[in-house]
Amino acid sequence: MKKAHENERHLFSGKLGFVLASAGSAVGLGNLWRFPYLAAQYGGGVFLLIYIILAISFGYTMIVAETAIGRMTRKCPIDAFESFSKKPIYRIGGWVTFLIALLIVPYYSVIGGWVVKYLAAFCTGGGAEIAEDGKFTAFISSSDQTLVCFLVFALLTVGVIYLGVQKGIERISKFIMPVLVVLAVIICIFVCTRPGAVEGIKYFLIPDFSHFSYKTVVGALTQMFYSLSIAMGILITFGSYMKKDISIESATTNVEIFDTGIAILAGLMVIPAVFAYSGGEKTAVGGGPSLMFVTLPKVFMSMAGGGIIGTLFFALVLFAALTSAIALTESVVFTLEERFRWSRVKATTITGIIILALGSLSCLGYGPWANFNIFGMQILDFFDFMTNSIMMPIAALLTCLLVVRVIGIGKIVLEVEDGGMPFRRKKLFSFMIRWVCPAFVAIILIASLLSVFGVIKI
Ligand code: PFF
Repeated sequence: MKKAHENERHLFSGKLGFVLASAGSAVGLGNLWRFPYLAAQYGGGVFLLIYIILAISFGYTMIVAETAIGRMTRKCPIDAFESFSKKPIYRIGGWVTFLIALLIVPYYSVIGGWVVKYLAAFCTGGGAEIAEDGKFTAFISSSDQTLVCFLVFALLTVGVIYLGVQKGIERISKFIMPVLVVLAVIICIFVCTRPGAVEGIKYFLIPDFSHFSYKTVVGALTQMFYSLSIAMGILITFGSYMKKDISIESATTNVEIFDTGIAILAGLMVIPAVFAYSGGEKTAVGGGPSLMFVTLPKVFMSMAGGGIIGTLFFALVLFAALTSAIALTESVVFTLEERFRWSRVKATTITGIIILALGSLSCLGYGPWANFNIFGMQILDFFDFMTNSIMMPIAALLTCLLVVRVIGIGKIVLEVEDGGMPFRRKKLFSFMIRWVCPAFVAIILIASLLSVFGVIKI
């Protein structure tokens, strides 16, 4: 049987396909839901500055390395790691990378389902009702409602995967990503021109170093990791679908600009909106994870035209979440096709069943099974913690080791420069992957462990 990548369906048609699909994987709930509340919490402008510095150095290095590994091997993450070394540690690297995507999609789709609910509410004129106090908690604890919304989101995701790489992922990304940018710009202009928004814009854009602390750096590090979809196998997978005549450096730079640009636009939507609503009261943006589902609907409903802007906002979030879930699912399905020689239909169906099973657990974990805790966490939070705080740093560390100790930095450089392509940040890449990235990844892992055991608070 042909391996999946030997099939034309498993190649992007060109650079645009790769860039939009990879940007789609990167731009997600991380940008629209997580970035604004972290930026608000960790000092606004100073957080933004550190985030940008980390993205163009650390983040950039990791995405180039993963894309190059994918393109040079044309294999799924498990086989790619194994093709360089059969040592157990690197085999573990491949498997952990695969498992991360498999464990994230289900709970990510549950949160995607919450977005479906909020979009439906705003679309049907129910914005004021859903913005009422206690509505969000009541919704997530009603497992029948969350299950239905989760199902809608998961079926949309799996449906695109059935269609394949060019007809599914590439086509949907080419449609969704430009719409997403237009929506983001419209909402930003609307929000930033509201009375009282200027204070929020200043807080978000102008660095004030009195807000700087180690938490700013750790927060920006973990967020950048999450946002660029590092160590989830997505970029190895998408790199393996990339044709040789495309510049890895320029394509990954585009992805990075897209992802950071949307995060900045998200900050410019959310922070000024909350400032305008609260009359400049900074504590109002400290809503943490509930900022998007609890504070924002109230903020929108307090504005003239807020029903429409709320609808556009949740449509934007839904689009962003969908393209990320599609990318994660593609990484899993491609691995099952390659590793187990399953057909695309079989691999997609089995992945779909796993998503439904694990996602349902996450829904129930906030509802009737709320008393069931793992290490004091509800099921969804536990999956999130395991993947983001433990497994992703481990996979990233093993990726750095693989590049430095086994593949050799020179081979990655050759892959990037293949066909006479330029590699302007070559020196930065070599220095970062050898010294700085492993250190940063270790900081993320240690900080996550210390925070879960209550030693530090991040
Ligand atoms: N990078 C995407 C986002 O920012 O939402 C995708 C993603 C990241 C999904 C991390 C899941 C995750 F845990």
